[in-house]
Amino acid sequence: MPTLQQIKSMKSKQKIVMLTAYDYPIAKLMDGIVDIALVGDSMGMVVLGYENTAKVTIEDIARATGAVGRACKNALVVGDLPLGTYENRKDALKNANLLLKSGANAVKIENKPEIAEFLVNKGIDVMGHIGLTPQTITNFKVQGKYEEDAKKIMDLARNCDKAGCFSIVLECIPLNLAKKITETISIPTIGIGAGVHCDGQVLVTHDILGLFESFKPKFVKRYAEIGNEMRKAIGQYAREVRDGKFPSDEFSFH
Ligand code: KIV
Repeated sequence: MPTLQQIKSMKSKQKIVMLTAYDYPIAKLMDGIVDIALVGDSMGMVVLGYENTAKVTIEDIARATGAVGRACKNALVVGDLPLGTYENRKDALKNANLLLKSGANAVKIENKPEIAEFLVNKGIDVMGHIGLTPQTITNFKVQGKYEEDAKKIMDLARNCDKAGCFSIVLECIPLNLAKKITETISIPTIGIGAGVHCDGQVLVTHDILGLFESFKPKFVKRYAEIGNEMRKAIGQYAREVRDGKFPSDEFSFH
């Protein structure tokens, strides 16, 4: 498993690969390939069927973190603190510790550098997340297109760096802003919809595999259509059961 120090030292040298994972089998498949497995609150949408991430609970993330932690012998596991679980220092500490106890090596929070700094001072490793931050944003569009917004995002990035975050997710911002941030701050930037200049990339695994079909953001590249493959397999099983072809003798006891 890469240490936090190793992840930090990859900045500008070697791209960091991060994907989301919410369960044991998928985490096991990606372990040894990715650098970081993120137990993201995107789980609310791609696994639990909610419209957004707002209803994801700390217990949802803790249970998933346990499964991912059991699978990952090589990848660093980051647990996402869901909405409402780090509003103040006391909650942030309690909930971050729960995710660490469940199997995470670090936690991720959206915005809030002051909470990040508090957790870091308590010995907890924190990944920041700025730009389009799905827990609180209402305008699901590219952020930081205009000067004033770009400046706010740059300031947040600097503050997350100062707070002691070991890396920061930049979501859905113009690639030139991501480049400027990446060149300015000392910690690695991990982009999602933030262009090629970031120090690493993250996507939602269910998006790249074609397992989540409700919508596909522009920044998602589909590397496989596993959903179609699963539908085919399930269809064949259903036909064979209905036709009395399964289970054949091969799958029966005598
Ligand atoms: O919840 C999540 O999956 C995330 C990533 C998209 C960065 O926060």
